[in-house]
Amino acid sequence: MHIHILTLFPGMFPAYLNESILKKAQEMGQLTVHLHNIRDYATDRHHVTDEPPFGGGGGMVLKPEPIFTAVESLISSLQSPLESGDWRLETAGLPVILLTPQGRPFTQSIAQELAQQERLVLLCGRYEGVDERVRQHLVTDEISIGDYVLTGGELAALVVVDAVTRLLPGVLGAEGAAETDSHANGLLEGPHYTKPADFRGWSVPEVLRSGHAARIARWRREESLRRTWQRRPDMLLTAVLTEADRWFLGRLAEERLEIGD
Ligand code: ADE
Repeated sequence: MHIHILTLFPGMFPAYLNESILKKAQEMGQLTVHLHNIRDYATDRHHVTDEPPFGGGGGMVLKPEPIFTAVESLISSLQSPLESGDWRLETAGLPVILLTPQGRPFTQSIAQELAQQERLVLLCGRYEGVDERVRQHLVTDEISIGDYVLTGGELAALVVVDAVTRLLPGVLGAEGAAETDSHANGLLEGPHYTKPADFRGWSVPEVLRSGHAARIARWRREESLRRTWQRRPDMLLTAVLTEADRWFLGRLAEERLEIGD
């Protein structure tokens, strides 16, 4: 996966990208991240990238020209016959994603969708936002990482890079490691334990030490259902549930009635 990040602050990225799993993914050749400074594409003498909004009002708005030029020059670099005989294959459908609090809420299923792409462009907004013509005529998707306002899209872009990269083949090591994550199957994960088996008198559930694979799998499934029921009951409306799952949830509901909770 090749990810291109368009930002006014490329210096914000290396610390996060060059550690841990993201570093490993790049070393494995599964991920390349190209940082493009939008300011480099402003052609005027002072490299102006923002202006006050027409009609007045507070804040500054990112100008369209440097952003269009940055994306277009990226596209023409992909059109190089050195890289591909048929450039249309390279650029058709290139996703250009604006990070903005107005975007569609980012979820695990959007991460899975993006992980299928060969190449992504992430455009980090700043200040009051970007000129509307960027939205209308350049951007193909808009993503928000939550209902709060950051000072810019850079942290949001890193969130997207992180969530997508760990889904790329081989990046997490153990095959299928991402498949049991919270949200991956529509449920939250249950609890995890490691050594010591007894810590300050708090012991690890016996079933996990039983070595009985089927019992462990069922316990994990039930704890995952219990946690989802307690913390995110809304997720149970869309999760794929078996008969046994429904029976267990029924029991949880009865227990709650008995306690008078
Ligand atoms: N830019 C500012 N706030 C944001 C948010 N919540 N999500 C994505 N991009 C943003």
